Amino acid sequence: MSLQTIGHRGLMGAEPENTLRSFRRADRMALDAVELDLHLSGDGELVVIHDASVDRTTDGSGAVRDLTLAELRRLDAGLGERIPLFTEVVDAVGAPIQAEIKDAAAARALAAVIEERGLGDRVTVISFHDEALRETRELLPEVAIGLVTGWSTDTAPERAAELGARLVSCEFARLSADVVARCRAAGIGVISWTVNTPAELAVARELGLDGVVTDEPEIVSAIRAGP
Ligand code: G3P
Ligand code: CA
Repeated sequence: MSLQTIGHRGLMGAEPENTLRSFRRADRMALDAVELDLHLSGDGELVVIHDASVDRTTDGSGAVRDLTLAELRRLDAGLGERIPLFTEVVDAVGAPIQAEIKDAAAARALAAVIEERGLGDRVTVISFHDEALRETRELLPEVAIGLVTGWSTDTAPERAAELGARLVSCEFARLSADVVARCRAAGIGVISWTVNTPAELAVARELGLDGVVTDEPEIVSAIRAGP
């Protein structure tokens, strides 16, 4: 089976990350899923932005949780794009979504939206934070969850199994054949962030991954072209 393509923060090699423009680009290219990052605004709205502060990705400054949605909306997130609400991304694209909880406090708000909008079949809730995944699982036992790992990738199979996650998304540089084999033995799918070069794609294929999280349209094209 071909590698699944997951667009990182939309398709951030081609468009400003975590903007509707970026998610629409990934959707137009028919990626298998889009990945996005979630925080809570100061007034409790579920907003799509990677960092805990707005400084790097917008023309503003300050912590996301210290700004209201109205204040966040005034910022330019690149090419005139605004920081989107999670629900706006849901409405803007048809692709499955990997919704990454960055701020563990956002787990409850995300679960509420998934339930209200009937998104259980379309959204996989992913996070580095075990507590966010545990809370999601308690609130929505049927919704798929995925463990994201970086430095702790070596223990990903066992942690994922303990959490009831059927997917791990591991940092590319820390992934090994041993981790993949232990995931396979536990029936856990393995994807990796981020795979952005032909050399990285060759390794992903060699490791037999289920999918790659990529910034780059060229990697999507290379996957479709075959090995
Ligand atoms: O999909 C997981 C990956 O996005 C984790 O890294 O820092 O880009 O959110 P980061
Ligand atoms: Ca992410």
